[in-house]
Amino acid sequence: MALNLGSKLRELEKKTEKAIQGGGEQAIAKQIAMGKLPARERINCLVDENSFYEYDLFVEHDAREFGMDGKELPGDGVIIGTGKINGKPVAIYAQDFTVAGGSLGSMHARKITKIMDYALRMRLPLIGINDSGGARIQEGVNSLAGYGEIFFRNTLASGVTPQISVILGPCAGGAVYSPALTDFVFVVDNISKMFITGPEVIKSVLGEEISMEDLGGARVHCETTGNAHFFAKSEKECFEQIKTLLSYIPWHNEEQSAVAATREPSKKYHIEKIVPIDPTKPYDVRDVIRSLTDNSDFFEVQELWAANIVIGFGRMAGKTIGFVANQPMVLAGVLDCDSSDKAARFIRYCDAFNIPLVTIEDMPGYLPGVDQEHAGVIRHGAKLLYAYSEATVPRITVILRKAYGGGYIAMNSRHLRADFVFAWPMAEIAVMGPEGAANIIFRKEIMEAADPDAMRKQKVQEYKDKFANPYVAAAKGYIDSVIKPKDTRQFVLQALELTKSKTVGRPKKKHGIPPF
Ligand code: HXC
Repeated sequence: MALNLGSKLRELEKKTEKAIQGGGEQAIAKQIAMGKLPARERINCLVDENSFYEYDLFVEHDAREFGMDGKELPGDGVIIGTGKINGKPVAIYAQDFTVAGGSLGSMHARKITKIMDYALRMRLPLIGINDSGGARIQEGVNSLAGYGEIFFRNTLASGVTPQISVILGPCAGGAVYSPALTDFVFVVDNISKMFITGPEVIKSVLGEEISMEDLGGARVHCETTGNAHFFAKSEKECFEQIKTLLSYIPWHNEEQSAVAATREPSKKYHIEKIVPIDPTKPYDVRDVIRSLTDNSDFFEVQELWAANIVIGFGRMAGKTIGFVANQPMVLAGVLDCDSSDKAARFIRYCDAFNIPLVTIEDMPGYLPGVDQEHAGVIRHGAKLLYAYSEATVPRITVILRKAYGGGYIAMNSRHLRADFVFAWPMAEIAVMGPEGAANIIFRKEIMEAADPDAMRKQKVQEYKDKFANPYVAAAKGYIDSVIKPKDTRQFVLQALELTKSKTVGRPKKKHGIPPF
């Protein structure tokens, strides 16, 4: 028989058409009725137009038990491929809930691990869109093996290539651990659900009733658990957030972030007007960050969780900077378990991906109290010390007002090897606040005074005059310069330029043992 290209092409077209139909019209209609986009559409919304190339379209599952023999599962419930975002290549997988609930069997897992291997080998960011009922029950331990292979690769790629998880449906059982091992988790209101044990299990074991949304919905993971980093109201908004994130971060750990065109901060953010002189008065530290960044852009990470610390990306002189800033507007910007965790992880991210860190400090120290002590503030607080001490990227600190106690050390002090520390003239750098300090060191004088209140006031003032300023620290060289607030951007820019070629050595070791 003569070879006929036309018939081969028709065969390919027919097979492709069948494979891309997913779970069929009815299942796709159900997906859309739930406010969810079909998997292929999600990818096309995310990547640059016509840039997606799919692989392993014709992979078939190999399960034989529990009615699986001969069952057709197009693509085995997951789409893998590469595309471009902002003109640069990325690797992607998207689980297709319309095919066996996007459940993960051995071939489904093999497709995911294949694209993970590509991403690592080609040094590309990996974006995983999760929408799945978890381990494919019919495939038993083979499903579990598949998850194990994914978790191992997540860990291998950690700190080498960016890993982004997008939760666009259920992400149940052990499946949640892949997103938890990745760098950034995106969730969408009313669509994302993440939990280890679902409402039915909780009801049968504990007798407690809870909805899926209240157990592990998008808000829960953004506001309460801190598992998610970005909250969106719709899938489309979520994809825009991913694109913005990718505009800031380098493609891998041996690359620098792209340099954007430089624009001055907006005049709207007037640094002297943002920060009140009175150290007890709150303000929004994000306005301070915007007064420093190019075009006043700031892309906040984990905005809704542990809001007493602010983390996120901005640019200075066109280059991406990681900002860590106490937020005086929330709990006076105090450090606690969650804010330490939040900042420490972000610092490690920036350090792994060559992103310089700028720290804005204004906080009264670590939060006192039984709750915090018993929640492990010692262990959690230590993460912040560890993360800063370990980081070798350029590190610059600006102390605006309060820098008390352990918090002063933890917030990228000279003692943890900050490259530059600047303080404003109203900065107060001391072991503790004047009230607490005076009550302790002048207790006897206050108790024995004819008028203890007047004596306390006098001693508080004495302490303030002596220690609540930046000059004691400046006299020791712990801070490099006391600067005028309006000169802050100029000082930070200059410090960033000076630290561009920073090199530091560290003792040879396999790895450290951070207080995880
Ligand atoms: C096989 C599954 C499945 C699974 C869903 N399906 N989950 N098939 N294994 N894990 C199938 C359903 O049978 C159904 O098939 C189709 O997907 C759609 O599911 P529905 O239940 O109709 O959808 P919905 O009502 O939207 O409910 C979604 C859901 C529910 C909440 C995710 O399906 C569910 O609770 N699934 C099980 C979740 C779970 O317990 N997973 C295992 C976790 S243990 P048909 O043919 O009817 O369309 C785990 C261990 C991993 O993951 C450990 C790793 C370390």
